[in-house]
Amino acid sequence: MVNVRKCAIIGCGFVGAASAFSLMQSGLFSELVLIDANRDKAEGEAMDLSHGAPFARPIEISAGAYDDIADCGLIVVTAGANQKPGETRLDLVNKNVGIFKQIIPEIKKRQCEGILLVVSNPVDILTYTALKLSGFPPSRVIGSGTVLDTARLKYLLGQRLGVDSRSVHAYIIGEHGDSELAVWSSANVSGVELYRFCELCGHFEHEQNMQKLYEDVRDSAYEIIQKKGATYYGIAMAVRRIAECIMRDERSILPVSSLIEGYYGLNGICMGIPTIVGSEGVEKVVDVGLSGDEQLKLLKSAESLKKVLDTLDL
Ligand code: LAC
Repeated sequence: MVNVRKCAIIGCGFVGAASAFSLMQSGLFSELVLIDANRDKAEGEAMDLSHGAPFARPIEISAGAYDDIADCGLIVVTAGANQKPGETRLDLVNKNVGIFKQIIPEIKKRQCEGILLVVSNPVDILTYTALKLSGFPPSRVIGSGTVLDTARLKYLLGQRLGVDSRSVHAYIIGEHGDSELAVWSSANVSGVELYRFCELCGHFEHEQNMQKLYEDVRDSAYEIIQKKGATYYGIAMAVRRIAECIMRDERSILPVSSLIEGYYGLNGICMGIPTIVGSEGVEKVVDVGLSGDEQLKLLKSAESLKKVLDTLDL
C-alpha cells in the first residue's frame, strides 16, 4: 500500500537537506524519512528540521533505513558526489552510477509502488540508470531534468524585461548540462511572442542577447560552485515544485527527465522535455514544436547522453 503523505529522501548532503527543508515547508507530506550512508548526518538533519515543526504544518521527520521506503508515495534520490569547481556533471558519471548500483537495488527489493524522483547528477544518465535497475515502469521514474534550468531562464528573462518570471513561458530542454538548449521558437510572455515583448521593452538585439542569456543559464551552476562550492536552494525549490505536481495531481507541464520514446526520432534515453506530470508520474511527453535549428541541437544533446550511456554496464 502506498502512503501518498510519506516521502523518503535518500542522500542528506546539501541538496538532500535543502530538499527536506523545502518539502517540509510545502505541507505536502505528513511523514518525511531521511536516509544517508552516514546515519548521524540523517539523524542530525532530522532533529534540526523537526525543531521547526511548530512553525510548519504537522509533519514527522525521522532518520530511517531502506525498509522505511516500502510504502512511500515519493522517493527522492539526491545521493552521490557533486561537482567540484571546474568539473562537468558528466564527469561524475562513474562515481554516481556506482552509488546508484548500490541504492536502486535496495529500492527494488522493497517493491515500492511510489514514484522515484532522481536529482543526483548527471541527472539524465542517473534517471536512466534508476529506470533500468529499479524495474519500475517508465512513468514512475522521473529526473529533475531541466526544471531548474528553465526556472533560471524564466528568472533572467523576467529580470531583463521587468515582468514576473511566472508570466514568462520558455523552456530549456535536453541534457541538464552543457549540451542543453533554449527553445526560443515558442517562447512568449503571457502569449506575446518573446521578441515582440522584448521590443516593447526597448530590446532589439535578439539573437545576441538570447545567446548571452542562454549561456548564463547553462553556466549558472559553474558560477555558483565557483563562488560557494555547491548549488542547492534552486534545485530544492525545483524538487518541491515537482513533488507538488505529483502529489496534487496537477498535470502541470514541467521539463522533467524521463524515458524518451519516439520524440523527434529519439529513443532509449532520458532527458528533460516538457512533460505533463501528475499522480501517476509521467503522464505525457509533450511536443512543444521545435524549429529546425532546435531539433538539431536536441539531437546533439541526445547524442552526447547516448555516448555516455553506451559506456555503462546496466
Ligand atoms: C545545478 C545542479 C543541481 O544545476 O546541477 O544547480
